[in-house]
Amino acid sequence: MTEKVKLVIGDKTYELNVIEGSEGEKAIDITDLRQMTGMITLDPGFANTGSCISTITFVDGERGILRYRGIPIEQLAEYSSFRETVYLLINGRLPTRGQLNQMSMLLNDHSLVHEDMRNFFESFPRGSHPMGILSSMVNALRSFYPELQVTEEEINITVTRLLSKVRTLAAMSYKISRGHKVVYPRPDLSYCANFLNMMFDSPVRPYRIDEDIVKALNTYWILHADHEQNCSTSAVRVVGSGRVNLYAAISAGIAALWGQLHGGATQAVIEMLEELHQNGRSVDRIIARAKDNENPFRLMGFGHRVYKTYDPRAKIMKEMCDKILEKKKTHDPLLDLAKEMEAAALKDDYFVEKNLYPNVDFYSGIVLRAIGIPTNMFPVMFAIGRLPGWIAQWKESVDDPMWKLNRPRQIYSGPGETAYTPMGER
Ligand code: ACO
Repeated sequence: MTEKVKLVIGDKTYELNVIEGSEGEKAIDITDLRQMTGMITLDPGFANTGSCISTITFVDGERGILRYRGIPIEQLAEYSSFRETVYLLINGRLPTRGQLNQMSMLLNDHSLVHEDMRNFFESFPRGSHPMGILSSMVNALRSFYPELQVTEEEINITVTRLLSKVRTLAAMSYKISRGHKVVYPRPDLSYCANFLNMMFDSPVRPYRIDEDIVKALNTYWILHADHEQNCSTSAVRVVGSGRVNLYAAISAGIAALWGQLHGGATQAVIEMLEELHQNGRSVDRIIARAKDNENPFRLMGFGHRVYKTYDPRAKIMKEMCDKILEKKKTHDPLLDLAKEMEAAALKDDYFVEKNLYPNVDFYSGIVLRAIGIPTNMFPVMFAIGRLPGWIAQWKESVDDPMWKLNRPRQIYSGPGETAYTPMGER
């Protein structure tokens, strides 16, 4: 029997159904609430609102659990590749060897971008942020490539095209921003190795593929591949709900991810650590600043809407920092600072009481620096990683029998009816 909850308003009692997920989380179904009661719910920031029923990603913020299609993130980080995780997220199961090869072929076939797109790049003012460029370029893809959306096969072509071209566009934007020759994708390289080669190969200094660096990038992208209904994914679903083309919905996701409180935090963390390092400021001082209610400053890379314990991705990322720096036989003073800051915050009452732990962005930047990625490209790296999640969520929403145009309501608190005042009387 379906569980019910009772809602009492005045002298009336209403019964609402309880929906239960496969991991035991529960939601009160308010689909008919306004129709039944004339009332709506108010939930700023949607902290208590489930916007959909999804089979893609499970997050338990209290226990620090993250799973894609049921598989723990720790296992994917250790055994999977980004390409395989992309397949898993979008198709709902791990691929067979044949399916993975087929996917690699499609990614390869669609990896080039229209040469005319270079004109776009060249028109952006110098110093433009790569996230702004990427968001515009992805939206522009719709003008260069028709959206085929009838059969499953056609949807797969659009999806693969997007996955492959976004990677090429990101590397191209880096090369053009530096005034360097664009490097084309190579059919003999894997998804991650190809990206690194397009970023760093040059006619005077050929790039040597290092399998440990490729593994680090694979892990970084796997950890970022999906995170259920976060800000940018919700943006993709909301924009997509108007039945806009996939490119436009993804472009909206990129724009949302750019923000400092979301994917932009990776860049902000490194800038914060660099400032601390260069100016010789103490960790205690910056922690005091983050705690000051009068100061809007926040400790970047700390806190999360869902995780009230250590973010499982941050744990993997932290281990990755040590591994990659050891392999490169380099020392990054920012890693020492980050560890010092984490230790100080985790024993500070303010951070303990508010359950503020390092999130995925806290150690990500150090891994990206070790790979050689420039700081302003960090959110772009996040966007490439999150792309399969956005696509999987968009696809799920398009196929959802409960699909509806996303259109929240509001409680109006402005002036009552007011007569228009002619210009001369104001
Ligand atoms: N530093 C200092 N104080 C913080 C921090 C922080 N990083 N994060 C939250 N707090 C405090 C808030 O000031 C607030 O205090 P109050 O209750 O006294 O007003 C309390 O903790 C709760 O914070 P909220 O902003 O209400 O929590 P919310 O769930 O909305 O915010 C967020 C989550 C935006 C991630 C927040 O923790 C933050 O700003 N962190 C820094 C930015 C960051 O690292 N973003 C990346 C998130 S991960 C991702 O998107 C991939």
